[in-house]
Parts: sequence; C-alpha cells; structure tokens
Amino acid sequence: MRVVAYVNGHYVDLDKAVVPVEDRSCQFADGVYEVSRFIGRRPVRLGEHLQRLEESCALLGIKGAPAAEDWRRIIARLLDDSGIPHDNAFETILYQQVSRGAAPRSHLFPPASTPPSCVAYFRIKPAYTAKQRSGGVALISQPDERWNRCNIKSVCLLPSVLAKQAAHDAGGFEALLVRDGIVTEGSSTNAFCVRGGKILTHPDGPRILSGVTRGLAFDAAALAGIEVVLQPVTFQEYIAADEAFLTSTTMNVMPVTSVDGKPIATGAVGPVTSRLAAAVDDLMWRELRANREFTCAGEP
Ligand SMILES: Cc1ncc(COP(=O)(O)O)c(C=O)c1O
Repeated sequence: MRVVAYVNGHYVDLDKAVVPVEDRSCQFADGVYEVSRFIGRRPVRLGEHLQRLEESCALLGIKGAPAAEDWRRIIARLLDDSGIPHDNAFETILYQQVSRGAAPRSHLFPPASTPPSCVAYFRIKPAYTAKQRSGGVALISQPDERWNRCNIKSVCLLPSVLAKQAAHDAGGFEALLVRDGIVTEGSSTNAFCVRGGKILTHPDGPRILSGVTRGLAFDAAALAGIEVVLQPVTFQEYIAADEAFLTSTTMNVMPVTSVDGKPIATGAVGPVTSRLAAAVDDLMWRELRANREFTCAGEP
C-alpha cells in the first residue's frame, strides 16, 4: 500500500510528510489524536471517532481543526490516493492528529491566529493471532501514573508507553492500569471483567478514555441481553472475576486469561466474553454493510 499523508492541506508520501520542529506536539505534547478502523473502504463508527476528536480539541481549547464533514472529504481523498481497495480482507487504521500548531517555544498558548497542525494517514492494521483470540492474553498490572484528564485523547502518552513496555518486558500483552487500588483501563484499551454473568467496567469520567469500541460493546451487550454495570472494580475483585476482557479499535473484544501470571478463574476464555465478542462482530458487520459512504456504485 502506498502510504499517503494529509498534512495541513497537502497530500504527500509519508516519507515527505513533516511538521516543524517547533510544532507544539513535539515540544509540549500539545495535541490530540484519533485511531479508527477501516475494513476495505468501510469505516467502523467513524462518526464517533470524529466526534471524540472534536471533543478532545474542545477540551484543550485547540481551535480551527477541520469539521467532521471536512475530515470526511480528506479521508475520501486519502482512501483514493492510498489505493485502498473495496476488499474486506484489507484492513487499515486511520491515524489523525491535531496539535495547537507551530510557534516559537513558549508554555503560553501561541497567538489565536496560529493555525492548528493537522495530519492524517492510513496504515495496515495490526493483526492478532488466532491463539490470542481463542486462548486469551496475559495482563501485567502497572500503576496508573497518567494525569487526571484521561478522557481527552491526548498525544501525551508517555505514562502509557512506559506501562505498556513494562508489561511487555514482563511477558504481558497489555498493562492493566491500577490507580488507588481501582482498575481503570489498559494502556491503550478499555478493561472489563465479568461477575455473575454481568459485565463490570469503570464508569466514564476523567480516569478513563471512553473507547469507541467500549460503546460498540455496550450496544452489542444490550442486543445480546447481557447486563453492563458501570462501577469501579478493585484490583482484587478484577483478579477474582469469572472472566475478563479488553476492547479497542484494533482488536474489538480481546479475552484476558491471566493477570500477573495468575489465571482468571480457570484460565480459559469465558462464555460471556465469547458471546459478547460474537455480538460485537455481528453488530459491527451489520453497521458496515449499511455504510456506503466511501464505496463506489456497483461495489458489493
Ligand atoms: C487509554 C485508552 N483507553 C481505551 C482505548 C480504546 O479506545 P477505542 O475503542 O476508541 O480504540 C484507547 C485507544 O487508543 C486508549 O488509548
């Protein structure tokens, strides 16, 4: 795939795509981002991703980014220029980033006339193995050292990077973040557990990013008749749960079968997780088939 990037109104090959050294994303992590999934030319819940990007900008007072309809025009051009086919086996992620722009280095916001810096491009989606899907993945707990505004999808990701790396170094797939004894989420995923047939997960608010896939999972759970309870879960409760799983844009539902080397229940993927995973895929495909926004006439 030819990787074409949108950078502030221009479409260039990724190796020619640059932002200035004084871009505030480089010097202050003063920017926000989005990652969304495309299957062929069909997006998964793009409206929700564009809305979250707008909300993240608004929460940080970053003004002047493209509106959703402008992003949709940019995305249509990127799909064409990148040669992304109408092929369900061809899966990509769209990365979008908006920073407060480039200006001489100062902690203070630059003049209001400074345009934001906007970037977008597609990459091949990471694949997960059948073994991970059917056998589940291992989590390693890590202290949640992030700031108190995790509802903003900020590029200030260093605490998440360090936690994920520490989990990886300890043989884990993902870090399970724990703050004040409460499981918040994963380093780049939302975390759930199952107890007595009900799904439990941290409530919305500044301690977590409200994942688009988390929303998809809630809708799928409602359709499948599975109850979801939004309540803080302690680490002790999490590891004693009947089942556990993660959600994210790139993986949908990923079963979790151990934490810190100890199995969750029997160490096998649980029935509620399996039912939910199927319900999420089902709902996703139903929505995808109804979405013709970026497809061409005559395409299946
Ligand atoms: C901290 C965090 N939580 C949750 C998620 C999952 O969100 P989504 O389902 O929108 O990909 C992400 C994704 O990047 C994340 O970074």
